[in-house]
Formats: sequence, C-alpha cells, structure tokens
Amino acid sequence: MHANNSLNRLVSVVFIPGIQVHITLHHLDLPQILEDEYGGWLSPRIIEDFTAYADVCFREFGDRVVSWTTVNEPNIGILASYDVATFPPGRCSDPFGATKCTAGDSTVEPYIAAHNTLMAHASAVSLYRKKYQAMQKGVIGISVYSFWSYPLTNSTVDLAATRRCKDFFFGWILDPLVFGDYPEVMKKIVGSRLPSFTEVQSELIKGSLDFIGINHYYSLYMNNRPLATGVRDYGTDISVSLG
Ligand SMILES: *[C@@H]1O[C@H](CO)[C@@H](O)[C@H](O)[C@H]1NC(C)=O
Repeated sequence: MHANNSLNRLVSVVFIPGIQVHITLHHLDLPQILEDEYGGWLSPRIIEDFTAYADVCFREFGDRVVSWTTVNEPNIGILASYDVATFPPGRCSDPFGATKCTAGDSTVEPYIAAHNTLMAHASAVSLYRKKYQAMQKGVIGISVYSFWSYPLTNSTVDLAATRRCKDFFFGWILDPLVFGDYPEVMKKIVGSRLPSFTEVQSELIKGSLDFIGINHYYSLYMNNRPLATGVRDYGTDISVSLG
C-alpha cells in the first residue's frame, strides 16, 4: 500500500463544512514506487494496488463523500503519458513523441495503459458497490476529457471521421463501461495492438459507473485523413485532422 501521499492531500479537502465532497482518486499522481516496481499502468498489477488504495479512501473518508471519480480524463492523460510523452512517465517511441524518449512504445502502450486503467476502475467500483455503497450512499464514476466534433464538410469521409473521432475519444473509455467492449471501429483499425476483454473482465466492467463526468473544453472540425500505412500510434489510428 503506497497511498500515503495521496491520502494526506485528501484529508485537507474533506473537512470543509457545507461543501458536498467529490473526490477524484487518481489525477496523474501515481506513486513513483509503483512506476519503478512494475511500470505502473502498463502492468495489470496496478489493478490490485489501485483497488487497495481506493479501499482505504472509501473506508476512511466515504462517510463524508457524496461522489467518487476513480480516474480523471484517462482518454487524454494516457496519450500524454504513453504516446507523445508530455506528461509523466514520459514514454514514447519515434516518430510519435513530442520529445525524444529513452523508453516506451507509442504504438501499443497507450492501449495497454487504458485497458489496465479501465480494469482498475471496474475493480474499485465493484468493491465500492459490494462493501460501502449501501451504507455510505455515494455514487461512483469516471471523468472523460471532451471536445465536441463537427464535420469540416458534409462529405461521406468527413462525416465518418467525425463519428470515428467520437468513438476513439469517448468510446475508448465509455463503450467498455457501458457495453463491455471497445468500439468496433477501434478494434478494426487498431487490430491486435488493442487488448481484448475476457468474458469475465467484460462482465465486471459493463455497467461499472453511476455517472459519467464530462470535462468539456471546446469543439473542433474533423477532416478525414487517410489511414497511414506502416507503423501507427493512436494519433494516426484515429485518422482525422483536427481543425
Ligand atoms: C452539413 O449539412 C447540415 C444539414 O443540412 C448543415 O446544417 C451544415 O451546415 C452542413 N455543413 C457544411 C460544412 O456544409
């Protein structure tokens, strides 16, 4: 259990009188030791540790917490962390990084990190529902980064690009939580680089949210970009130009 730093910060939040407390369990603040021990979100070992951390938070603070967000904006944080390396742990591979990385693989790591994040979320939600929710009466969900997508033109390809962008940005996280699987278009384009859910995982994750948090920033126009041949990352898999 390596949650002490995060817990210390939570304590100062929960005692403000008259405030309905909404806690985010993870916001880019993974303890370094989990990164060093097994690569953090790249390992399924994170599922058990995240659940143990959530358990401590539910147990210690849950009587005063109205809503819990498990993970903040995994659909953008993961790309920054494992595709373009602008956020810790700063992993990427050529030619996709915004910087030169010493380690990483932009073609697969974002998808693996997202998969483990989704399973860690589902595991924490399952624990909350079994052990705490009836007594504490809170709600639990996840938040996603959001920009709305409009087609740049009404051409068939731009309309499809608009749909694809929503599937990649929202569906990547929300389709598993609602339907138990990734969007078809992602499975088709990403292929074997996209992890798949076992039946047991799919059952656990499906329906594992009481609310969807939408952090909305702006809107963008979508212009189709033909799928790149050769090595691809999330940014090229999505095959749109954002304008
Ligand atoms: C596309 O069609 C819709 C519905 O007819 C229209 O409102 C919109 O302005 C059109 N967009 C463009 C970029 O032409």
